[in-house]
Amino acid sequence: MTFKIAPSILAADFTKLGDEVRAAADGGADLIHIDVMDGHFVPNLTFGAPIISAVRRATSLPLDVHLMIEQPERHLEAFVEAGADMLTVHVETSPHLHRTLQQIHNLGVKAGVALNPHTPYEWIREILPDVERVLVMTVDPGFGGQRLIPSMLYKVEQIRSAIAALGQPIELGVDGGVDQRTIGALAQHGADVFVAGSAIFGAAEGIAAAIAALRAAARQAKS
Ligand code: DX5
Ligand code: ZN
Repeated sequence: MTFKIAPSILAADFTKLGDEVRAAADGGADLIHIDVMDGHFVPNLTFGAPIISAVRRATSLPLDVHLMIEQPERHLEAFVEAGADMLTVHVETSPHLHRTLQQIHNLGVKAGVALNPHTPYEWIREILPDVERVLVMTVDPGFGGQRLIPSMLYKVEQIRSAIAALGQPIELGVDGGVDQRTIGALAQHGADVFVAGSAIFGAAEGIAAAIAALRAAARQAKS
């Protein structure tokens, strides 16, 4: 299994965002994860298209944009124009999720669907064939630096089984509380994309060493 490490810039030093993104890319990151929050769906506000476009100028890595916003349909085009390569929307924000995913695909980028911790796997069961990635929130979204909720491991396992039964190459991401202690169990339960903010940008050993250590821990757990 190929693992992807996706540093979340939420934990980066915004006074030198370009340097932080380049350090993550040079350090072996597979994607750059960008958390867009609206202060409604989640109790925090972050950034929008101008920051996506600034990150776009700093790296050629795929930009993985996680939309924690109500009515995401209103902004999809702007985010793609700014440089997003994948847009992940929450099942909880999109009553017409199938249509929203089609809109994302029609804009020429990949589509992901995210689930909050309390949202059962069944909420995405029928939509699974229409996404390139499922993103399991392993904390309540809104803030970095929280602890992983252990019961999410079971949800990861359930979704991995469903993906295997479907036989499509759908990625299974985890977001929140991913660090060198938790990544092994997440990999064992079937996750293959690991979003990590504080474990990378806040690491004492530096960004590149943190990415390498996360990847090594995931691989070791699966070997
Ligand atoms: C949480 C965000 C995450 C966040 C993860 O709402 O979606 O991407 O940056 O942060 P850590 O890795 O610090 O838990
Ligand atoms: Zn995120």
